[in-house]
Amino acid sequence: MADYALVDLDQRPDLAPRVLSMFAAAGPGPGHVVCGIPPRMGLEPGAGDLAATLGVLIALSGRRIAGVLAVCPYSAEQVTLWGPLIPDPREQPRVLPLLVQEVRQALREGNYASMRAPVDQRNRTLRAWLLAAGFQPWKDFHCYEHELVGHRHADLGPVQVAARDDFEAVARVLQACFPDSDHCRVSLVQRENEGYRHYLLRDGGQVVGAAAVQAGGRRSWLKLIGIDPAARGRHLSRALLAGILAAEAKLNHQRIGLEVFADNRPAIALYERAGFLRAWTASLLVAPA
Ligand SMILES: CC(C)(COP(=O)(O)OP(=O)(O)OC[C@H]1O[C@@H](n2cnc3c(N)ncnc32)[C@H](O)[C@@H]1OP(=O)(O)O)[C@@H](O)C(=O)NCCC(=O)NCCS
Repeated sequence: MADYALVDLDQRPDLAPRVLSMFAAAGPGPGHVVCGIPPRMGLEPGAGDLAATLGVLIALSGRRIAGVLAVCPYSAEQVTLWGPLIPDPREQPRVLPLLVQEVRQALREGNYASMRAPVDQRNRTLRAWLLAAGFQPWKDFHCYEHELVGHRHADLGPVQVAARDDFEAVARVLQACFPDSDHCRVSLVQRENEGYRHYLLRDGGQVVGAAAVQAGGRRSWLKLIGIDPAARGRHLSRALLAGILAAEAKLNHQRIGLEVFADNRPAIALYERAGFLRAWTASLLVAPA
């Protein structure tokens, strides 16, 4: 029986190209291993994605990579798993516990409480493995995309790119819409330095709608979009989203993507009406550290 050695990618940077090609081969489809960095989900992984993780654990059998598990940042209490990726399913009974046990220990040392794993619903094998390893299903989410090439709405309409003077009002709307999000825990100036753009919609002079879009390469990522609770029910989000699509198309992004919880019916209605197409659905499985 094979013996396995666990190494961290930091100790063996020479393994990065092989790890990347394994993640690339596990792109969208029945064997999809969803990237734990949302704006990068479904895209060809690159070295920057590995650098954006908290760590990449590799199970080696001699020189062969038998398993990979990357740990991605999510919040101060929780991480998102990218993997595990175990090319030979016959090795799962030995490799999976090794990887998960090692990650658990690292999480406890880092004072994390839990981990979440996004599992494409087509990847029934990975789902079964994680359930057997003690993970529990929490929520499903859909990944949607919208083509921007040839997008005809050149006009932003009532939508504006948020200026610094607007950041307070934008943050107020985003916090009211996403009380659990850490987006506004730092200043929006800092978020823009990290690569976000913010959009706003005014109604009667007040900022009632706001959005945060993360810059990507060819695909930008709509991280947050919300209408102030007091202004909902009037379809104001349609104009906000239309303006965002126009603005992102003008920036020459080819596509815009987003994730949305499967039970968020108003948001799904909004996206589908605007022409977003569902790329896949994933379940979030969670487990304590
Ligand atoms: C999503 C959101 C921006 C929509 O705001 P809005 O413009 O006020 O939207 P409306 O209330 O006018 O409704 C939007 C659509 O959802 C439908 N809808 C509203 N409540 C619904 C419900 N409970 N079940 C099903 N459909 C619902 C509306 O009929 C409308 O559909 P239509 O365009 O086909 O008529 C707003 O609900 C919001 O800010 N939510 C909190 C933040 C959020 O979840 N953002 C999305 C994160 S991915």
